[in-house]
Amino acid sequence: MRALTELADRARRVLEPVYWDYFAGGAGEERTLRANIAAFERRQIVPRVLRATGPRDLRVVLPGGVSRTPILVAPTAFHRLAHADGESGTAKAAAATGTVLTVSMAATEPVERIAEAGGPLWFQLYPQPDRAFTAAVVQRAEKAGCRALVVTADSPVFGRRDRDRRNRFVDLPDGLACENMRDADGRVRDIAMDDTLGWDTIAWLRGVTGLPILVKGVLHPADASAAVAAGVAGVIVSNHGGRQLDGAVATLDALPAVVAAVGGRVPVLVDGGVRRGADVLVALALGATAVLLGRPVLWGLAAGGAPGVHDVLAMFEADLDHVLALAGARTPADLDASMVAAS
Ligand code: FNR
Ligand code: LAC
Repeated sequence: MRALTELADRARRVLEPVYWDYFAGGAGEERTLRANIAAFERRQIVPRVLRATGPRDLRVVLPGGVSRTPILVAPTAFHRLAHADGESGTAKAAAATGTVLTVSMAATEPVERIAEAGGPLWFQLYPQPDRAFTAAVVQRAEKAGCRALVVTADSPVFGRRDRDRRNRFVDLPDGLACENMRDADGRVRDIAMDDTLGWDTIAWLRGVTGLPILVKGVLHPADASAAVAAGVAGVIVSNHGGRQLDGAVATLDALPAVVAAVGGRVPVLVDGGVRRGADVLVALALGATAVLLGRPVLWGLAAGGAPGVHDVLAMFEADLDHVLALAGARTPADLDASMVAAS
């Protein structure tokens, strides 16, 4: 969308270059970052006609309840680094449009304050080696009203971000902290990546919380099957926006095999490179129940605070509604893979 490109340009102008690089960048040579976008550019829509598509109904059924639209906000770190409105600003915009916001474990505001906006929230978790602390974080999120837990599985170690290394960007500036990492005595812990995590972690989490659990970062169909066997409520096809394994498959290319492996037992969501309504349509047609937006929301926040995020979410929703009409679909369920061609 042209308007989104303009917001990204404005974000680039207003952000400190070091922070722009953190938000915009990916791992290694950024092949996967580019591949996510290129995968959407390789697809075309094969529209249907004369199918009485009005008025449209964008609702979809997700873990934790019905969502007004199949467009969600992905968990992204450090919103106060993008704009003083921070995660609360993002939450206000998401609540106003009825969009699910996934709160990052690396949020710069406490989940309780983010929840004051009143919108539907999910909480993203990096399970920590300290299980008691992990359980306490999960219980905090649950008490604050989060409706689902998103366990990020693509980060056993941190990705190598060349831009951040060049810029010597290693941590938040003074005055900002990962507020959901405070322990009982108020000290902020560092987020640990844990390369000993396995499917038993999911089993353990299911004993800690009654919240539905989604696993984020699945690309291989065998892992999608393992996730369903582990009792998850949803699978998120993601490569972390190209920030972890550079060279990993584009998410849209990985989606069909994951959808086939899951076989409709739980919803499959996808993120990475979704930049317009037509991208949402293609992902849904290839079997996703919903998509998540990472950087587009950050561009809105950086460029215009909470109203900027509102603009982005409203634009995506209006654009999806528009392309559904033009493609001959009244609801997401009217889409199928026969409506997508590839070049
Ligand atoms: C992320 N992402 C991410 N994922 C996660 O599980 N926990 C996190 O804290 C973060 N933090 C984060 C920060 C920034 C700056 C970015 C850009 C991304 C990954 C995110 O949830 C999502 O997978 C991607 O952003 C999707 O790709 P697009 O929409 O940015 O192309
Ligand atoms: C990132 C982390 C925090 O992608 O997930 O920067």
